Amino acid sequence: MSDLLIVDHLSRHFTNTGLFQKRQVFHAVSDVSFSLARGQILGVVGESGCGKSTLARLVLRLIQPSKGAVEFDGLDMATLSRGDLRRLRQRMQLVFQDPYSAIDPRYRVRDALLEPFKVQGVKLKSADATVASLLEMVGLSPALTHSYPHQLSGGQKQRVGIARALALNPSLVVLDEPTASLDVSVQAQIIALLNRLRESLGLTYLFISHDLGLVRYFCDKILVMYLGRIVEIMPNDAVPTHPYTRALLDSTFEPDPRQRRTITRLSGEIPSGYNPPPGCAFATRCPRVSDLCRTNLPALETISDHHQTACHHPLMNEMKSEVLQQVNTHESAVP
Ligand SMILES: Nc1ncnc2c1ncn2[C@@H]1O[C@H](COP(=O)(O)OP(=O)(O)OP(=O)(O)O)[C@@H](O)[C@H]1O
Ligand code: SF4
Ligand SMILES: [Mg+2]
Repeated sequence: MSDLLIVDHLSRHFTNTGLFQKRQVFHAVSDVSFSLARGQILGVVGESGCGKSTLARLVLRLIQPSKGAVEFDGLDMATLSRGDLRRLRQRMQLVFQDPYSAIDPRYRVRDALLEPFKVQGVKLKSADATVASLLEMVGLSPALTHSYPHQLSGGQKQRVGIARALALNPSLVVLDEPTASLDVSVQAQIIALLNRLRESLGLTYLFISHDLGLVRYFCDKILVMYLGRIVEIMPNDAVPTHPYTRALLDSTFEPDPRQRRTITRLSGEIPSGYNPPPGCAFATRCPRVSDLCRTNLPALETISDHHQTACHHPLMNEMKSEVLQQVNTHESAVP
């Protein structure tokens, strides 16, 4: 399988520009590299503020990187003209947690579905037929064509969001916590729909979530982030070796989307992105911390095929059966 997306040493920092503030640099994404093969689902997981959405925006070139490169289907996105980038955007689409947050609340479903064509200047033979086929594709009744967002359930709104994203026939879909605000049963239906669409349309997904159990269930490959850095990359069925990934595995998060999703049972502060520590950023919360961890940044090392971890003291085979037991218990709770 060839790679559709290659992310190479990508970093993004934000500088505060307050008039009377000391100039400070916030490190939101630091030195992130990965590849995503055509047809694969890559899950990006981590607590609130670890840089997942910033990474998504960088991949889609909605913001510029401070360093590093993104290659999409063999094209270095930094070298594209505005026009080329606009055309390329048809092939990479974003689905949000709340798809209607970016759409005018006065738009009916029909208007929301036709908007991507208007934005890209695509002429349609029949707008009615296009709307009908998009609704059918995501399992929505044609009776909803003229409904307003407030007349739809959360699941129906998300189906409209997915139909909008697929309207222009993209190759890559970035899904930023698409099921986070939905009930578990509706979440399962949306995941099943996404799976079906991926198979029938040959899509590639970058799927962002704070829920490692869901990501293990849905994705082929998992990328775990902590304070802007990758701490582990692994196949979905691999046993996690990084203490942070282990902590994520036995965590449950508040379903309320307004809550910050952090692992409450870990004591210790998360360092600030304004002042990241010289060593491992997880050292303040890690049960396996040593002096080495506090001073030396652990590099991503290969543990086995397609499995890399950034930890001085990874959890290796001696803990394997205990971890597998946790994985099985956790996954039985996933829809
Ligand atoms: N434009 C910006 N200016 C300053 N800081 C920013 C900006 N955008 C993001 N950040 C900071 O970067 C960090 C990462 O934000 P990001 O939204 O990528 O996190 P996230 O992992 O998606 O979190 P969540 O799970 O809550 O959605 C946060 O601390 C955020 O405050
Ligand atoms: S490097 Fe040290 S502090 Fe960081 S996760 Fe590994 S053991 Fe814990
Ligand atoms: Mg986010």
